[in-house]
Amino acid sequence: MRALGGALGVGLVILLGWIGWLWHESRLPDTYDVMDYGSHDYGGGPIPTSGHHSGISVANLRGPRSEAADAKFRLTAQATTIRLASGREIEALTFDGVSPGPELRVQQGDLVEVTLLNEDVSQGVTIHWHGVDVPNAEDGVAGVTQNAVPPGQRYVYRFRAEQVGTFWYHSHQVSSKEVRRGLFGAFVIEPAQSIYDLDLALAAHTFDGVATLNANDGFQSRKISPGTRVRLRLLNTDGTPRRFTVQGTQFLVLALDGTDLNEPSPIENDTLEIAGGGRVDIAFTVPRAPVWISLAETEVGLALNADGVKRPLAEPSDEFNPAGYGERAATPFEASSRFDRRFELTIGRWPGFLDGRPGLQWTINGAIFPHVPVFVVEKGDLVHVTITNDTDAVHPMHLHGHHLLVLSRDGVAVSGSPWWADTLNVEAGERFEVAFRADNPGIWMDHCHNLRHAADGLTMHVMYAGVTTPFRIGDTARNEPE
Ligand code: C2O
Ligand code: CU
Repeated sequence: MRALGGALGVGLVILLGWIGWLWHESRLPDTYDVMDYGSHDYGGGPIPTSGHHSGISVANLRGPRSEAADAKFRLTAQATTIRLASGREIEALTFDGVSPGPELRVQQGDLVEVTLLNEDVSQGVTIHWHGVDVPNAEDGVAGVTQNAVPPGQRYVYRFRAEQVGTFWYHSHQVSSKEVRRGLFGAFVIEPAQSIYDLDLALAAHTFDGVATLNANDGFQSRKISPGTRVRLRLLNTDGTPRRFTVQGTQFLVLALDGTDLNEPSPIENDTLEIAGGGRVDIAFTVPRAPVWISLAETEVGLALNADGVKRPLAEPSDEFNPAGYGERAATPFEASSRFDRRFELTIGRWPGFLDGRPGLQWTINGAIFPHVPVFVVEKGDLVHVTITNDTDAVHPMHLHGHHLLVLSRDGVAVSGSPWWADTLNVEAGERFEVAFRADNPGIWMDHCHNLRHAADGLTMHVMYAGVTTPFRIGDTARNEPE
């Protein structure tokens, strides 16, 4: 009996010691280099010889510095009260006094220059160009690619707009709070030619629990002549998926996450689900009858030629499926390509400590932040990633600086148009195979765009071998990207 008690006692001491050690190991110092944590994962590829403390600094991976800019903007970050269409006031953080911030439109090929001025956002601000594959130093991640810009200071971003499509910009300093409170806007790169008469970006965002579309918390109604060709750029700036419905017309899905789909065909009565941070572009020709573009299950949206006419009550029941839409087209690589590296990114949820706090934590490949993997790649690598969601929450996974070609979902190959994503909605239990070409050297965040989840540790990095950062989390700028 006494022996058993003794054994239990020893077991208890060992258990408590182990828990104490886990707690101790989880605590983050006040300031650190993101590359000093995590286990380097080489995806089965060769281990690069260039060590991580030698080589090129992200500060040198800038966009063009001296050429004249084609499109110049200045954005002032400030704390402001904004007024929704209903008159409701929100204590917001804004660019230029409005949220969404000014819609920035440039032409493909433009050299873009944006001067960020922080008037009075106390925690500091940066601008990340979500979905735009900019050079690393222009990526706007506090503590990784720059220091957060404190009140009274400025920072100049410069990059060539090489893609075409719908993107957005947002602060990447304390982003879980600053984006939610309004520091974001649409960023559109237009092609040289457009066949559309009306081209509108519509950002869905929830302010203090109120659903809005471009800060309108009701239906915005517009009169538009039948025959007008309309392109709508739908953005979800929230962390959870938003569903849009289109009623009263057939429509085409032109693009996903800023990349055109090949030969889209008309659909009708489909709901469009957009991942947190994702974008969907649609087009239609205005018919004689009214058209409603609505946020599903809300009284928020855009009503065309609808005055006095009630919106059809029944919402469309079919979900648009990007995995089998449009027509096949050649891609620079495919599922059968020879990959240089193959990574697993498995999201789980386990009890443990995050920075000393106990609870159920997000895990990546079984590890809790900051002990998550770092995917190490070399320039030119063709990279395969299997993303598995072993939790019961949805995670919109966003890789900076690259676009992912979706190869399969739950083992079923993507048919139809090539599907490129930068923010992939990975639902509970789902598994995706994706691929990308490592053609943009730097240190890139790869995180859940439910920014609350990212702040709770669902964050990791893709690192090019030999790239280092002079910036640190914390530090005097109090950098805190999540
Ligand atoms: Cu939209 Cu890491 O960002
Ligand atoms: Cu998540």
